[in-house]
Order: sequence, then C-alpha cells, then structure tokens
Amino acid sequence: MTVGWFAGLVHPDSKQLTEALRAAVRDGSLAAGSRVPSTRSLAQELGIARGTVTRAYDQLVAEGFLVARQGAPTVVAELLATPAQPDAPEPAQPGVARWDFRSGRPDLSSFPRRDWLAASRRALRDVPTDDLDYGDPQGHPRLRVALAGYLARERAVATTPGNIIVCNGYTQALSLLSNALADQGESSVDFEDPSAPHLWDIPAGFGMSVHGIPVDGEGIDVSQLRSRAVVVTPAHQFPLGVSMSSARRAELARRAKDEDLLVIDDDYDGEFRFDRQPMGSLQGMGPDNVVYAGTASKTLAPALRLAWLALPSRLVGPVRELKRNSGLHAPLFEQLAMAELILSGAYDQHVRRSRATYRQRREHLGEALRGMRAKHRPHPAGISAGLHVTLQLDPEGPTELEVLDRARRRSVELQVLGPHWLSPGSHPPGVIVGYAAPSDHAFRPALQALVSVLER
Ligand SMILES: Cc1ncc(COP(=O)(O)O)c(C=O)c1O
Repeated sequence: MTVGWFAGLVHPDSKQLTEALRAAVRDGSLAAGSRVPSTRSLAQELGIARGTVTRAYDQLVAEGFLVARQGAPTVVAELLATPAQPDAPEPAQPGVARWDFRSGRPDLSSFPRRDWLAASRRALRDVPTDDLDYGDPQGHPRLRVALAGYLARERAVATTPGNIIVCNGYTQALSLLSNALADQGESSVDFEDPSAPHLWDIPAGFGMSVHGIPVDGEGIDVSQLRSRAVVVTPAHQFPLGVSMSSARRAELARRAKDEDLLVIDDDYDGEFRFDRQPMGSLQGMGPDNVVYAGTASKTLAPALRLAWLALPSRLVGPVRELKRNSGLHAPLFEQLAMAELILSGAYDQHVRRSRATYRQRREHLGEALRGMRAKHRPHPAGISAGLHVTLQLDPEGPTELEVLDRARRRSVELQVLGPHWLSPGSHPPGVIVGYAAPSDHAFRPALQALVSVLER
C-alpha cells in the first residue's frame, strides 16, 4: 500500500485512527474523491481488528469527511477535502526598545499586586452565587456604586450608579459612543488637533468623518467646532499637555447646552496633577451634555481593560444596548476586584503613591533637560501633570525624524508629535516622552539614554 498518512501509526485504536484520517483529509494528503482502503486491507496493514477501522470510518462518514455508498468503495468527501488554511499571520509586534518612554504607559512594575490579590480574594469569597450568572451589561452594581462615589469625590463628576457604564477600556467606550452617535445620524466628530491618532479610527469605523480643531494655550478653540460631538482632554491635553482654561470650559459647556452638542471628556490621566489639586472634570459643569470617560489603564494597568463612562441620562439606554451587543458586560471578577480596591481605600493610596513617583520623575527629567549641553535644548510644554511631557524641539535643531533615528540607535522608545496632527501642513516639532513607563530601577539610566538622544 502506498498511502503515507498512517505511516506513524502503531496499532492505533479507533480514536487515533479517526484523528489521523481526519487530519489527512484536512491537509489534503487524502485528496477529494480518492478511495480510502477497504476496512479489511487497512486492518491487515495496521495489524488491528477490522472493527476498529469500521468504527473510525463510520465516525468520519457521520462527520462528513468520508462518503460511503452501498456497493461502492468509501471515498474522501468533496467539500471537506480542502487543504487546511495556513495560519493567519500574527500582526508584527514592534519590539520594545531597552529604554521605554512610550506615552500613556504607567510604571507596570508598580502595579499593586498585593492589594489586587487581596481585593480579588475578597471578591471571590463574597460574591453571591447568583452573580455568577450573566450580569448587567452596564456593569456590576457594586463597582458602579464605588465609581460614582470615587468620581464625585476625586474628579467632581456629577453622576449616579445608574448613569455609569463599565467598559472594556476607553477604546471600547469611545467605540460605543461613536456607534450611538452614528445611530443618531451624526456624520462627524471633532477631535483636538493634535490628539491620539489611534482614537480617530474609532468613529471613522462607523462611517463618520473626523475633524481636527486647533488647540492653543487654553485648550481647544471652541469657536472653531464643526460637529455636534467633540472629544476633549480638558484636564491634560493629549499630547500638548495644556489644561483647558476656566473660560474655555465655561464656553464649551455653554455651547454644548445651547446647541445640544455632545462633549466627551476623556479624563485619561486626570488623577495626576503635580503642581496643585487636580482640576475637577468638565462633566461636572454640564452633565446633560458632557460624557465623562475614565480608565484604569493609567492608574493601574492597560491590561485590565477597565474603563467607565458617566453618561447623560438620555444616552444610558442606547449605550447600554450597544454594550450588551458587544460582549455583554466586562468580566465580573475584574469588576469586583476594582470595586473592592476603591471601597477599601487601596486605590486612592496607590494613586497617591504613583502621583508622588511621577512628580519626582518629572522633576528629574526637568533637571536633566536644564543640565543639557545642547545648543538647541528642547523645552517642556504644558502643565506639570500626567504620565508624559511633550518637549518642543528647536526648529533650528534636529528634526523629529533625526531624533527618532538617534533614539532607535540608542534603543530608546519615544514618540514624536508629527503623527498626532489631523490638519495637513507644517506644525511645530516635538517629542513626546512618557516618563512613567520605565520601572523605578530603570528610570535613571533611561533618563541618561534619553538625554544622550536629545543632546547633539
Ligand atoms: C488620549 C487617550 N485617552 C484614553 C486612553 C485610554 O485608553 P484605554 O482605556 O482603552 O487603555 C488612552 C490610551 O492610550 C489615550 O491615549
């Protein structure tokens, strides 16, 4: 016999034989329409009982891999006999350089493992059995209660547990909001210019156009809004780092109310203000027209995929429905652990500790920049806050591309402003330094490496 598909089989039982045959049909070694050996000859060949082969064939006939006809040889089925698909290529993951200054990353090594473990243990111990069923797409009530309290206390958000929706990251939150806006017939969304490019694709995916609205030292230029919805980062503009002035906040809240606009307050790093108390959220000025969006990605870890929306009442129903349709609710134990963390005070403690660390890092970075020998020394822009600082490059000095090239050669990972502009044309050059990303022990050498990149 010449067939090679069973070459490695030694006295197989019927399950092993079935698997080998199934694999041979899938990968095309047994071609569609070809005869399989008779049960008698295959049993002889393999030194097994004929009934073992018969059971394997019967199984594969029942599954549709083989076709048996009365009085005719059994053949490989036509439709299923296509060769197996090659594996879909994995998207290339850029290797992270040795010194990591990517923006938007907290120090992952400071994740409060012990507190999270204790919170998870309590959650697992105390969760009522009924809560293990499908839950509320809006999120577990315990977390929503904890969040409503925390957000009122720390971010001056005016909301109730009933208006909160727990999401799988802000990315999903923006996706749900974009979907809701598209369903309501909105055709465009305004973003600050510059802003985070990976977020523009989200409303664009729902067929909406994205407009860039200029940002100056007071935040977004409200007089230039073009759409009925706008995404803003009032506490700490990403990436320029300015905080929206009180006059602009009032102007935006007023316009939103008068013209029934929807403002999305992306409070991605609002907890981290170093020079004064954090500003309250914009949402508190106009809860009927402003959506508050917060995330655990900067305070704890992006991998948690936990974020929250505090919605105007009219949006709760539609967004809840969309959340139901996109995977129901966020995973229960993460929600409950997060609730425990907040209610026990461990979350506030962790945020306070992180704030002190990042403040210090920002100061060290400032000192290092001031001590630079370079003729064209970059200047930090924006307020003292957040996990990143944008350094304005001297137009006479190295270009963004030159800085990126030097960074790559010194294994330093950072970003430049260029890709963050929505409007075409020339823009002031800058480098975005995420100083929270390195772990504590790596911060000093990482800073040295950064300075060597920026120093001519
Ligand atoms: C501007 C901005 N907002 C929000 C987020 C948080 O997104 P997520 O909660 O999906 O991690 C990020 C993350 O990088 C961001 O850059």
